Formats: sequence, structure tokens, C-alpha cells
Amino acid sequence: MPDKFIVSGGARLTGAVTVSGSKNAALPMMAAALLARGATVLRNVPDLSDVRLMADILETLGCSVTLFPQPGVVIIDVQDETPVSPPYELVSEMRASFCVLGPLLSRRGEARVSQPGGCTLGERPVDLHVKGIAAIGSEVSFERGNVIAKGRPTGGRVYLGGNMGPSVTGTCNVMCAAVMGSGVTVIEQAACEPEVTNLAEMLIAMGARIHGAGTPRIVVQGVPELHPVSFDVIPDRIEAGTLMIAAAITRGDVVLNKCDPDVMLALLDKFTEMGVGFERLDATTMRVWCDTRPRAADITTLPYPGFPTDLQSPIMALQCLSEGYSLVEEKIYPERFMHVPEYRRLGAEIRKQFNTAIVTGVTRLQGAPVASTDLRAGAGLILLGLAAEGETEVLKISHVDRGYDRLEDKLTKLGATIRRIKYQPRRRAEDRKAA
Ligand code: EPU
Repeated sequence: MPDKFIVSGGARLTGAVTVSGSKNAALPMMAAALLARGATVLRNVPDLSDVRLMADILETLGCSVTLFPQPGVVIIDVQDETPVSPPYELVSEMRASFCVLGPLLSRRGEARVSQPGGCTLGERPVDLHVKGIAAIGSEVSFERGNVIAKGRPTGGRVYLGGNMGPSVTGTCNVMCAAVMGSGVTVIEQAACEPEVTNLAEMLIAMGARIHGAGTPRIVVQGVPELHPVSFDVIPDRIEAGTLMIAAAITRGDVVLNKCDPDVMLALLDKFTEMGVGFERLDATTMRVWCDTRPRAADITTLPYPGFPTDLQSPIMALQCLSEGYSLVEEKIYPERFMHVPEYRRLGAEIRKQFNTAIVTGVTRLQGAPVASTDLRAGAGLILLGLAAEGETEVLKISHVDRGYDRLEDKLTKLGATIRRIKYQPRRRAEDRKAA
């Protein structure tokens, strides 16, 4: 059984905190290290269980990975370029492991990666990744639950827009698949997320020829060879957003260092509507405060630069205590509402139908035992626990450890009372008798 958090509500968060590097940029960038023989150095990598898992996957693919010789540094040394198939046991643990498909195919000419299944966010298919890779000239087949891609891409035109918008890791995979070789690949309706741009910038530093990353049209001209690089991961805009909401929900006053306000406009726009104060102190420093009860505000999750789905459950925590009714429409993962029954356990008033929820703001919540159902739901529960009366016990925090770098330390530094309780296996009756 995983560890749990005990959050004592009521403390007003104040002080300064430093935002870690982005999980969703770091994972595809680690996979992209496969594109060059030798040692790639990534800086500002967050220390997360997902990062450690990606390191394990890369080791099965012939890399020697050194994790955190200094804070934030990960060294991926590609030594053996023959393996093309990471083990299912590891891949099945994390969807982002599918990001090795493009780099393996581009560099090694073949990849065999197991198809990720559904998860608590819903079905999450990979048809756009597969369609994209097939459209640029590789042969794709399916065998015993694996996606098998063969033959270096030769280029072509790919439309990556799906019914739910463009795919973020699908864009990463097709871009990585296209970087080596002779052809030109045009990705239409590419994802514009800053994490995709960060990956493209890393690939360009490795010698790739890519134009248009950050726009819906990315053009990749294949090159014969790439070289290893040292590269910085961008700040985590979702972690930054979560910490900003923590400041607001506790009526606190917090300074965030090393964040990028330019990629957080959708959240900041909602803060303006809700009456949450913020000011930009310099290019990478923000102050966020809240001294009155926030007003309700509706949100609709959308691809970047729209409101991020990964902040839907955290902002819903704030909506739960705001004045008035808020409508939440989830357009990326229609089923991403598993947190709603847990929020209700704390006293939140939420009605939900299909991909929409209506939150009626209440004036007080009461601590209770709750369980996180996914990474961002876990963060939302911690936020509610910070504002609820008494103690909130948050179970299944392994989800939180996947994507937040020492969240409890950061919150504690800001004045929160949050304790991690290590799981102690309960002794069975016969063991007790024998003891
Ligand atoms: N989709 C398809 N077909 C595909 C791929 C996606 O229909 O082949 C659909 C999905 O089902 C979803 C939508 O398209 O409805 C968007 O999915 P996308 O592929 O963009 O998601 P992803 O790349 O698998 C990344 C993040 C997620 C984040 C989403 C959306 C990483 C490692 N993960 O996932 O992060 O929610 O983009 O922004 O980058 C998280 O950090 O908590 C997290 C879940």
C-alpha cells in the first residue's frame, strides 16, 4: 500500500517557493536522448517516480542513466543501439513510455512498443501516433499487444488533429520519428504545448532541422546524424499552477521563483475573473495572493493555449470554496472527473453529467479520509485539505509522487502542515501471537 499524506487545514501559505522542471517536457526529452550515441545531459529535471521509471526503460534500451548527480541533472549515455523493444512490465506502468517509439524508429530503424491501455482518465488511444508514423513512410503493424514500426520514415504530410484536439505526445513521437533521414515531414494540426516546443528546441540543438514548433504546422527536414547535447527542461506550468492555487485557496501570499508566466495566461485570466491577485515580479517570478473569498468562474479545458486539463481538478478545488456557481467543461478527457466523489466527501457540492460539472461554492469543508485517483486529482485533494477544517487523510499518494517533485516539502516551507505517513504493513493476528 502506498504512503499517505495527513494535511491539517487552516494555515495561510506565505513565503517563496521554487518551481521544478516540467514532467511532461522531461519525459519525451529523456526518450529523445535515444536519437544520438553518447551522453546527453538534461538539466532542471524534476525528481519524480515517472522520471525514474523512464530511466529504467532507457536502461533496457542500451543506455546508462545517471540520475541526479547534482540536483536536476540526468545523464543519459547511449551505449548499445541494438535493443528496440522495452519490456511490457515497465511500459505498462506509464503511458509516456510510448514516447520511445519515435526516437527508436528514427535512429534504430525499428521499434516494438506495447500498446498503452486505458487509464483513470479514460480510454486514451494511440491511433494518432500510429497514423502519423505510417503517413511518413514507416510500416506499422500490431502483434500480441505491441505496436511494431519498421523502416526509417521517408517524410510526408501528416494531419494530427483528432476528435479531442491534437495529441501532445503524438506530436512528439512523429517529430522524433521524422528527424533523421532524407525526407521532409509536414505535421498539420500539431500540438502547440510549450512541452512540444521545448522538445523541438532540444532536437534542434542536437542538429535537427525543425521549423514551426509551437504552431499548428511543424516542418521537419530529415538530417543524417544527430549529436548529444546538454539542455534545460522548462519550468513545470502545471506544478506552478497548483502552487498558485494553493496560495489562493489558503488566502495566502506566495512568490513563485523559476516559473514562466507567459505560458500560464489561461489560469491567470481565470484568477482575474475570480478576484485572485497576481503580479509579475520579473520574467520568471510571480506573486500570487488572495485576501477575500474568490468569485465563481466557468472553465473549459482545451489544448494549449486554452485552459489545461491538468489544472482542471486543482482549479475545481478553488471553485468548491468560491462564491457562486462554476461550470466545468472537460473537452480533453471527458471522463476526467474521478475526483468528484472524493471532493464531495470533504463537503464539496458538485453535480456532474457527461463531460460537465457544476460546482456550487460552499463556505466550509471538513477534513476526511480521501483517495487520489490520478496525479492531478491527488493534488486537488491536497489543496482542499489545506482549506478544510481539521485533518484530511489523502491515500494513494503514489499518484502524486509520479508528477510533483517533493510537493509536501514545498508546501511545508510555505507554512502548511502536511505529513507523509510511510506505509507500515499491518501484522496479521498469527504474527502478533508469534511475536
Ligand atoms: N487522443 C486520441 N488519439 C491519440 C492520442 C490522443 O484520440 O492517438 C485523444 C486523447 O484520448 C485525449 C486527447 O486526444 O482525449 C489528448 O490526448 P494527448 O495525446 O494530447 O495526451 P497525451 O499526449 O497522452 C499529455 C500529457 C498529459 C496531458 C495531455 C493533455 C504527457 C506525458 N502527458 O498526454 O498529462 O493531460 O497531454 O494535455 O505529456 C498529467 O500530467 O497529469 C497528464 C495526464
